[in-house]
Amino acid sequence: MTSTESQVYPVIWQKDHVLLIDQNRLPAEYTLVEITNSDDMALAIKTMIVRGAPAIGVAAAYGMYLGAREIKTDNRELFLTQLEKVAEKLRATRPTAVNLFWAIQRMINTARRTLGSVEYLKEVLLETAKSINLEDLQTCRSIGDSGLEVLPKTPEKLTILTHCNAGALATAGYGTALGVVRSAWREGRLARLFADETRPRLQGAKLTAWECVQDQIPITLITDNMAAHCMKQGLIHAVVVGADRIAANGDTANKIGTYSVAICAKAHNIPFFVAAPLSTVDFNLVDGSQIPIEERDSSEVYQIGKTVITPEGVDFYNPAFDVTPAHLITAIITEFGAVSPSELKQFEEKQAV
Ligand code: MRU
Repeated sequence: MTSTESQVYPVIWQKDHVLLIDQNRLPAEYTLVEITNSDDMALAIKTMIVRGAPAIGVAAAYGMYLGAREIKTDNRELFLTQLEKVAEKLRATRPTAVNLFWAIQRMINTARRTLGSVEYLKEVLLETAKSINLEDLQTCRSIGDSGLEVLPKTPEKLTILTHCNAGALATAGYGTALGVVRSAWREGRLARLFADETRPRLQGAKLTAWECVQDQIPITLITDNMAAHCMKQGLIHAVVVGADRIAANGDTANKIGTYSVAICAKAHNIPFFVAAPLSTVDFNLVDGSQIPIEERDSSEVYQIGKTVITPEGVDFYNPAFDVTPAHLITAIITEFGAVSPSELKQFEEKQAV
């Protein structure tokens, strides 16, 4: 057995502030950014210093505590009103990943349900943010182990393709899709990970590749347009991706390009798995057409790094996510086990907010 316990934790509570790994600087530089107030946390989420659905949920939970700490009143009702303003600010950062909204709501609900002084409420909010952080780490490990149950039984050592970064960096640690990869590696079931580079922001090339190098998981990087060819050549045995929001019918929003990978997998009869915690499922949405899709600045398309790659006079479109329809998904791997998209509903009551 190989040790695969990732030592990468993108959101760390330290005494009285949060440390974030600056994911915009990886892999060139490993830098920790100190976050001491809710404005800076909102900015860090918006500018993707911290990114990935579960990780922004954890970051937002701490952001709620930092915002609560800034409120200067002893009056409970006034406190709750001002806490709602902090929530609005954090909600306005990124629209697609539902974990952000889930974590903020859990913090709001905790504050409303807790009796006692404002000082005591603030203490409870910090403890709740720490719990969200720790639970996500445990959840990812469970997702990893659930994944082992459904990965193809042959060949013994699999080559798995992933898209974007659904790893330790995108969660409290360990990862969802990369959690499955880590568990497979630990159990001797992984030959190698193939990773799409994931234009425009290159999370695959920069972040997934960095994580795998840290943990010595063998990785082959391909550009996004190579996936179909690799599948046709028989190089890929399964696809495992993460998710930003899953509708009640199993339609799944994930990083732009995921949908194309799912279509290619279907065409080549390769199982396509979505690995995500229940906090990523939005049971309020009937299907994926209701998932809000973030559009980001066009500079992400016309530039690579700081280099402009297009002539002037071109228009751009930059949706950050796409929706893979449930019928292309073999199974959704959660902390409670793997189910087909149509069976997801059975978990609704397990989703604590
Ligand atoms: O724009 P990003 O980098 O936040 O998008 C991340 C993804 O799409 C991930 O695949 C998803 O959040 C799952 S993370 C476990």
